[in-house]
Amino acid sequence: MRTKVIAGLILRRFYGFIPTIYNKQITMAISSSILTADDTTIAQAATLLRQGQIVAFPTETVYGLGADATNDTAIARIYEAKGRPQFNPLIIHVDDAASLDRYVAVNDTARTLIKAFWPGPLTLVLPRAAASPIGLLASAGLETLAVRCPAHPIARALIHTLGKPIAAPSANASGTISPTRAEHVALSLGDKVPMILDGGSCDVGLESTVLDLTTATPTILRHGAITKEMLQELLGTIQESLDHPTHPKSPGMLLSHYAPRLPLRLNATEAGDQEVLLTFGDDAGCTGGAMRFHLSPKGDLIESAANLFAMLREADQLRFSGIAVMPIPMHGLGAAINDRLSRAAH
Ligand code: TXA
Ligand code: MG
Repeated sequence: MRTKVIAGLILRRFYGFIPTIYNKQITMAISSSILTADDTTIAQAATLLRQGQIVAFPTETVYGLGADATNDTAIARIYEAKGRPQFNPLIIHVDDAASLDRYVAVNDTARTLIKAFWPGPLTLVLPRAAASPIGLLASAGLETLAVRCPAHPIARALIHTLGKPIAAPSANASGTISPTRAEHVALSLGDKVPMILDGGSCDVGLESTVLDLTTATPTILRHGAITKEMLQELLGTIQESLDHPTHPKSPGMLLSHYAPRLPLRLNATEAGDQEVLLTFGDDAGCTGGAMRFHLSPKGDLIESAANLFAMLREADQLRFSGIAVMPIPMHGLGAAINDRLSRAAH
């Protein structure tokens, strides 16, 4: 199995040469934000990330659309750029395993896998560490976090220069194929990303394997270059998920998994005395509420997305009778916010 992966890498490297000149022409026509990755441009990309901007960068699997993983406003910009109608949990990219336990609770199985496969295309889902600085929006409110250490030197240099983990989904618009070249990112996200770091074509060309280590038996949530056989060789029994969070067998299970304890209602124009109110925009016309949390006083959807999970948690206290949420428009990030809230309302 390992040989197959390596053969795949070599083939990709070989074919990667052929379309280079052709691609250069497309690049110039599409976007001026594609920059060849070197020390200078990596430092520029890290500066943008530090400022809360998003940057596309190469990994050995596919190109990622990265943000500072500790900044929920920056993470909201990822969802906005991708145009995802839902908040899917993102992978947290680290440049080594040294400080991993700041972010997640690392167990023995994780340590074994990290030793064997990191850096590389294996993502591990682990419980969030108690004081994890990773934004709640990065994991779409889940108590678990997906972490991976990419093998690509440019990805690792970027994480290292930033000095923080990078949250990144694949750098494509929602519903389109994952990009394996900088030009693909430009075609898909073009004007939505201030910078695309060009590191040539991705060796693996397939997203990382996602392995859930929070279940009694390690569970493959997504297949990738680290195969079931490779994992079995090391761990023994492995199971495959029929209920992946983003491809659930029964949506009902996902709904209950995500629900706050208190009843939640949408499009509230007034709140009861025992209810907690989540406001959006000007809340002067909305009466009542035992307490108010302001998703965004100025009616900004990025700010609302950044605040959503933290405020839902704070609102979900048993001294209240329920959570009422003011109307949130359906355009842009509003679709994902309303999707998350209507699941919570179930
Ligand atoms: O190769 C890759 O994994 C690429 C590069 C950029 O690293 N990233 C990527 O990210 O494919 P994305 O967002 O397209 O896919 C992340 C997958 C999704 O299937 C998501 O549901 C799963 O990881 N995931 C993330 N966090 C999770 C969590 N806490 N629990 C379960 N699944 C999670
Ligand atoms: Mg993807």
